[in-house]
Amino acid sequence: MLVGLVSAKGSPGVTTAALALASSWPRTALLLEADPFGGDVRAGLGRGEWPLSAGLAEVVVDLRSIDIHEALNQRVHRPAPYAPPVLAGLGCVGQAPSVPWSRLGAELARLAGADVVADCGRFTPADGVAPLLQVCDALVLVTNSSLRAVRAAARIAPQLQAELAVAPDDPHVMVLVIGADCPYSVAEIAQGCRLPPLGELPDDRRAAGVWSDGDPTWRAFPRSPLQREARRLATKLASLGTRGRRSA
Ligand SMILES: Nc1ncnc2c1ncn2[C@@H]1O[C@H](COP(=O)(O)OP(=O)(O)OP(=O)(O)O)[C@@H](O)[C@H]1O
Ligand SMILES: [Mg+2]
Repeated sequence: MLVGLVSAKGSPGVTTAALALASSWPRTALLLEADPFGGDVRAGLGRGEWPLSAGLAEVVVDLRSIDIHEALNQRVHRPAPYAPPVLAGLGCVGQAPSVPWSRLGAELARLAGADVVADCGRFTPADGVAPLLQVCDALVLVTNSSLRAVRAAARIAPQLQAELAVAPDDPHVMVLVIGADCPYSVAEIAQGCRLPPLGELPDDRRAAGVWSDGDPTWRAFPRSPLQREARRLATKLASLGTRGRRSA
């Protein structure tokens, strides 16, 4: 199963949400950094200590001679026991169009033994990541709850539904709210975007810092508000399973 997370303009939190969900996935899950503006995890979660050749750019080269399983075995890195295995993203802005997203996505979507949660960064229709979005089993639009963020999210919701060729209200394209009720509720945002709600991840700065900046964990980290809710939402997402029809 391949799940893509994208954000709209004005809504930070997609990398944190993707890592929190992948770390809480009920099955084995790999985090793919597919942000066309470049990866965050090497400097964030990895605090600058990431094996140099462990990333997406290397997998793209590997795929010319070896299969996806072999490539991932060499290039995926798990930076800490509480973290999911991660394929770190691109180092340069502008590299995204050179990645064969369609082939890579199709292979990741039917990977044996693992689901893939993809941090696709901020959505732009012409950035080259669209072929990956199109082969996802589910897409999650990440937004904050301010009017500005919700307006931006509502503008791109129909484009995400078009990428998966699904109707409004189809459960395979959902909205995830980071810090609801400031001021809009999850239900109001879902209605405004015409997307089914996946739910909310709470505003939890301490736990978020573990994922975004590699801050240290503490004993009760798994019971933090962020991780508790991530577990619930990951279970809900994972239960969607693969889509019957696939466009690539
Ligand atoms: N649920 C949350 N509660 C509190 N703070 C959060 C939450 N999620 C993310 N943050 C904080 O917001 C900031 C941006 O988060 P993150 O890097 O996940 O955003 P992003 O959308 O991936 O940004 P970018 O556009 O740079 O890739 C970080 O400081 C992170 O700790
Ligand atoms: Mg990010």
